[in-house]
Amino acid sequence: MKRTKKKMESVIIKTGIKGFDELIEGGFKEGKIILLSGTPGTGKSIFAMEYLYNGASKFGERGLYVTLEEKKDALINQAMQFGWDFKELEKKGLLEVMEIGIKSITERTVQDIVRKAKKGKIRRLVLDSISSLAINTPTTYLKTSELTEMAVKKFVYGFINDLRQLKETTSLIISQTVDGQISSDGVSEFVCDGIIYIMYEAIAGQYTRSLMIRKMRETRNNPDIHPMEITHKGIVVHPGLGES
Ligand SMILES: Nc1ncnc2c1ncn2[C@@H]1O[C@H](COP(=O)(O)OP(=O)(O)OP(=O)(O)O)[C@@H](O)[C@H]1O
Ligand SMILES: [Mg+2]
Repeated sequence: MKRTKKKMESVIIKTGIKGFDELIEGGFKEGKIILLSGTPGTGKSIFAMEYLYNGASKFGERGLYVTLEEKKDALINQAMQFGWDFKELEKKGLLEVMEIGIKSITERTVQDIVRKAKKGKIRRLVLDSISSLAINTPTTYLKTSELTEMAVKKFVYGFINDLRQLKETTSLIISQTVDGQISSDGVSEFVCDGIIYIMYEAIAGQYTRSLMIRKMRETRNNPDIHPMEITHKGIVVHPGLGES
């Protein structure tokens, strides 16, 4: 039998977020782990909710939102403000919100998530946030009761790397930062395949949001800074209007 060698092409996972996918050649590459970082209130959780909502409602792709920050009900209510009916999608088996109490974080937490994602055939995963996880690094990682930088780095590195077992799941990992940093742990930006950075700054006396793609492996991404809005329908990115 004659075999023809075909170039393997990656499956593209469209976020469906207005103005965003064209910045990264149409969407995320399947199986990649993307860091979504920014200062408080920039719209990271809303961006992540929309990524899952669009996946489930437009593409029939199952999503899992792992929250260590907001309560499940608060998250569902926030989504509903944009008309994203998470409860309905949960009923259809297309979406699940998993709430993890920070006190219950152990070295097995990542395996619980991986197991759930495999069992539920999850295609889109959100972790909100790696920062909450990092400051609650399990005591098994600590030599003394003091939370050291190295213990946090090891835990975060191992956690993100373990998510790589999910070959058909494209993950968005939220990181809360303070100005000038990409992540608070100093390691997730290196382990992840891509970095989306959202800013919220005063320009000419007015606060505006903007977004940039800091890294996207295997992708020719647009390097500019793009204005971003949160409208009543969700996130809108205005490509090409920013400055490099
Ligand atoms: N219905 C809405 N319409 C427009 N803007 C909204 C709406 N709901 C929330 N917002 C805006 O979104 C912001 C919160 O967004 P989000 O929760 O995604 O931020 P975040 O980056 O996840 O913040 P944190 O780091 O604190 O978790 C609010 O501060 C508000 O400005
Ligand atoms: Mg948030």
